[in-house]
Amino acid sequence: MRPTTIGIIGCGNISDAYLRGAGRSRLVRVKSVADIRADAAEAKAREHGVAAMAVDALLADPDIEIVVNLTVPAAHAPVSLHIIEAGKHVYLEKPLATRFAEAKPVIEAAAARGLRVGCAPDTFLGAAHQASRYAIDEGRIGVPVAGAAAVLSHGMEHWHPNPAFFYQHGGGPIHDLGPYYVTQLVNLLGPVSRVAAEATTSFRTRAITSAPLAGGTITVEVPTTVNGTLTFANGANVTLSHSWDVWKHRRVPLEIYGSEGSLLVPDPNFFGGEVKLARPGKKARPVKAWAHPFGIENQKHPAGMMANYRTAGLADMAAAILEGRDIRCSLERALHGVDVMVSILRSGAEKKFIDIKTRCTRAEALGIRDAKSLLKKQPVPA
Ligand SMILES: NC(=O)c1ccc[n+]([C@@H]2O[C@H](COP(=O)([O-])OP(=O)(O)OC[C@H]3O[C@@H](n4cnc5c(N)ncnc54)[C@H](O)[C@@H]3O)[C@@H](O)[C@H]2O)c1
Repeated sequence: MRPTTIGIIGCGNISDAYLRGAGRSRLVRVKSVADIRADAAEAKAREHGVAAMAVDALLADPDIEIVVNLTVPAAHAPVSLHIIEAGKHVYLEKPLATRFAEAKPVIEAAAARGLRVGCAPDTFLGAAHQASRYAIDEGRIGVPVAGAAAVLSHGMEHWHPNPAFFYQHGGGPIHDLGPYYVTQLVNLLGPVSRVAAEATTSFRTRAITSAPLAGGTITVEVPTTVNGTLTFANGANVTLSHSWDVWKHRRVPLEIYGSEGSLLVPDPNFFGGEVKLARPGKKARPVKAWAHPFGIENQKHPAGMMANYRTAGLADMAAAILEGRDIRCSLERALHGVDVMVSILRSGAEKKFIDIKTRCTRAEALGIRDAKSLLKKQPVPA
């Protein structure tokens, strides 16, 4: 299959993962990058050997088929609309939109022009998450009836170079980290039908300690501790806790409880990790390792080595467009995720249960052969 030519708008923190990740796939080729800050685009272009362009010049380039939108959350919908109006397909970082109504013009414009929209996260395509999906689909824990998802930390202002947007409208742990957990839960269990939550803002300001803005103060506009429940269309009752107000805890990222056992799933913010399964009355044991390429550790991380295959979703979208098939990181699934996250926050504000209007299918599972087809060559551990 021929490679699809890509342009990237937004040359901040996450753009390196895309520029490196695209280099691992035979299905995508990054031609150029753009940013409202020309210096940011020029620096990334130099570092990764691609061209720097003004945003409008990139959008006018007839070679570019998919534009990757890596701007900040508040710019996701307007920049995506601009890309679609220029006649290009869009793949964007999560969240698809920060308000349900923001997504509507993007959906309508793409449909009117016959263009496709794909949206991160793609970590659910990782080896551990696909192994979890396989275990559930094989009936290894029986019928899934409940679960628990938790991601708790003390926020972003101690590491991110530009942390303010995380605490502004469209940020907060639900919009920032919720997509990973909700997407993987939908991958495992299918769509959500109802949510309820308690949402609080523990600290009205946050002190920045990361370079280069250390000493600055952020005013917090969003809830930073959210405890919710998600009822899935299949009946499963799952708790979800997302907080940036916690220094230390002993919670685990994700567990699914079934009629015949429990599945202990690693952090859906990453591609790899160990999946464990516990049958009734037995200890939890690791599920048999499989040779899925998106589990091979390829990147150093402060916590040790990790598997990072960000852009797998983009490569799958490029192939899906050429093959005329469903995109695994599809607009329909991203929209359902936005519906769930916006409804969790609304429930917290209004103190009532919220029925989820949207539904989506589960993405097709990504097995070993499918994953290999997205790569240039089989990865080797770094
Ligand atoms: N940093 C991470 O580890 C990480 C991980 C996963 C996902 N994300 C997501 O990726 C997105 C970007 O995050 P980041 O950390 O790279 O942010 P960042 O602030 O480091 O970079 C964003 C870039 O977008 C540019 N930009 C903003 N508005 C623009 C516009 N209208 N037109 C053109 N350029 C514009 C900014 O100048 C900046 O260079 C966010 O949605 C975030 O949720 C980030």
